[in-house]
Amino acid sequence: MGREISHVMGHLGANWLERPDREREERTDRLVERLPLQPDSIVADIGAGTGYFSFRIAKRVPEGRVLAVDIQQEMLDIIEARKKAGYPQNVDTILGSERDPMLPGGSVDLILMVDAYHEFFWPREMGEAMARGLKPGGRIVLIEYRGEDPRVPIKPLHKMTEKQARAEMEVLGLQWESTGDFLPQQHFLVFRRPPEPW
Ligand SMILES: C[S@@+](CC[C@H](N)C(=O)[O-])C[C@H]1O[C@@H](n2cnc3c(N)ncnc32)[C@H](O)[C@@H]1O
Repeated sequence: MGREISHVMGHLGANWLERPDREREERTDRLVERLPLQPDSIVADIGAGTGYFSFRIAKRVPEGRVLAVDIQQEMLDIIEARKKAGYPQNVDTILGSERDPMLPGGSVDLILMVDAYHEFFWPREMGEAMARGLKPGGRIVLIEYRGEDPRVPIKPLHKMTEKQARAEMEVLGLQWESTGDFLPQQHFLVFRRPPEPW
């Protein structure tokens, strides 16, 4: 769909994801606060990396679960080690493939992708599989650095415009719901799987 796909960030970048000033720089606290969640929500964090968001979300869904999906086993090992060290236990790791996050069909209330979708080598296949994994009426929150904004100091390959993101989600049959620009550098895009019949 006219977009060049970036390389996958290797697991050696794990420290960068956990850098201490990330919360202040990217207002990750605000991002987590604004997610549409209930205490019993089932959430999939796709491209979870070190679980930076998975564990923060887990605290907001004490009666629910977070499925932390990644294609790098090394990332999932970091998440499992953090669970053993006392981080929230309602996080389950899933080793996905480049085309399929292996979500149980129609099972998830919310899919979150932070700085991950632009790396998917098979975005259409991933998108179709993610849409199947959502419950009817379930949502996708897509977080990407704003491609339209030259002040965001990130290489163009790692950014996305709202127009591009909407085109790639709408082709999957998902409905655009809102675009929030309350984060310093990223779009907060919300899409919804229509209620049945699809
Ligand atoms: C830049 S990191 C972001 C990690 C995390 N979302 C965060 O913001 O801290 C992107 C992650 O997406 C993962 N990834 C890339 N392609 C993927 C795919 N098709 N399915 C699942 N994860 C994928 C990479 O392995 C990497 O851990």
